[in-house]
Amino acid sequence: MTRILTIDPLEPEQTLLATAATIILAGGLVAFPTETVYGLGADATNPAAIERIFEAKDRPSSDPIIVHIATLDMLNNVAVEIPDLAFELARVFWAGALTLVLKRHPRIPANVSSGRDTVAVRMPNHPIAMGLIVAANRPIAAPSANTFSRPSATTATHVLEDLGGRIDMILDGGATPIGLESTVLDLTDVPVILRPGGVTVEQLRAIIPDVQVRSRYLTADQTAESPGQLIKHYSPRAEMRLFDGERDKVIERISEETSERSARGERVGILTIETDRFQYGDLPANFITVGGNIESMGVHLFGALRTFDRRGVTVIMVRLFEGEGLGAAIRDRLIRAAEGRIIRVE
Ligand code: TXA
Ligand code: MG
Repeated sequence: MTRILTIDPLEPEQTLLATAATIILAGGLVAFPTETVYGLGADATNPAAIERIFEAKDRPSSDPIIVHIATLDMLNNVAVEIPDLAFELARVFWAGALTLVLKRHPRIPANVSSGRDTVAVRMPNHPIAMGLIVAANRPIAAPSANTFSRPSATTATHVLEDLGGRIDMILDGGATPIGLESTVLDLTDVPVILRPGGVTVEQLRAIIPDVQVRSRYLTADQTAESPGQLIKHYSPRAEMRLFDGERDKVIERISEETSERSARGERVGILTIETDRFQYGDLPANFITVGGNIESMGVHLFGALRTFDRRGVTVIMVRLFEGEGLGAAIRDRLIRAAEGRIIRVE
């Protein structure tokens, strides 16, 4: 069964970290908060433990896992032939929401990386995540702590919803501060962003002016370089309707569709920012309103999708906005949640 330990996110209790580390070292699975989303952790040097991660998440074995480290020393036991650029980026962005794809060290088993000779690494900026890695004195492999293709978990409750009974422990350190996953940057060839995330493209451009962005939306039968590029990802059970276009026209279109669909007996959810909310008036919809800034949308996005599911909403309407800064990651997650479908409003 899954033990849940409540732990202080600012000053995690050492005894609790030690208990969790014992489970990791015995080949068990512990979910823990990072600054981005909850991770499902296992000893990154133990192939049997890694196998358990794939089983617990129902994750296809073709989708590689990120290795988390607490010191730059650890990096030398995880990756080899590390380019200078990696250390430069580490100096600026670690601990933080940037994952670097490097050449894999033989000490890291192949199943972490689904057989590739590369490895994704990051140093998380969260006292519980860091404390756990230090207590275990091992790199910890951790994908997001959700069932495969469901929205990532940003609270311990979300983890329990998906993985309860399938993992050994959850460290409940409250909600994760960013709410969106890390940016994945491949440094094994010319630098390419494989997934937009917590560190923005603009921030990376300041250091790598010609960094490429290759966030493609692939269907399941196409082979994906970063299987996180699969189009069906982060999906709620409800149908997602994403509308792109001029603000007022989009709001009008969402209002019309909501009226029509609710008249037909559908349960419509609308995810909106505060500054749009009044425009919808008293439409017969289930509203989730988040703050007007992009950070607030980031923090609440995945939780909102799960809340709509819990409320039995059958269709979720969202106005898509431009992808600047953190907005690029939000736009990416919304498009994936909608399995690539965008409705253009003229
Ligand atoms: O913020 C995050 O990155 C969270 C926290 C827990 O650290 N983790 C996370 O892991 O989102 P996951 O497994 O949900 O997503 C990892 C992404 C996937 O898109 C995966 O394909 C990619 O990183 N990835 C992992 N290893 C890779 C590799 N060797 N080469 C290319 N992409 C890789
Ligand atoms: Mg994930």
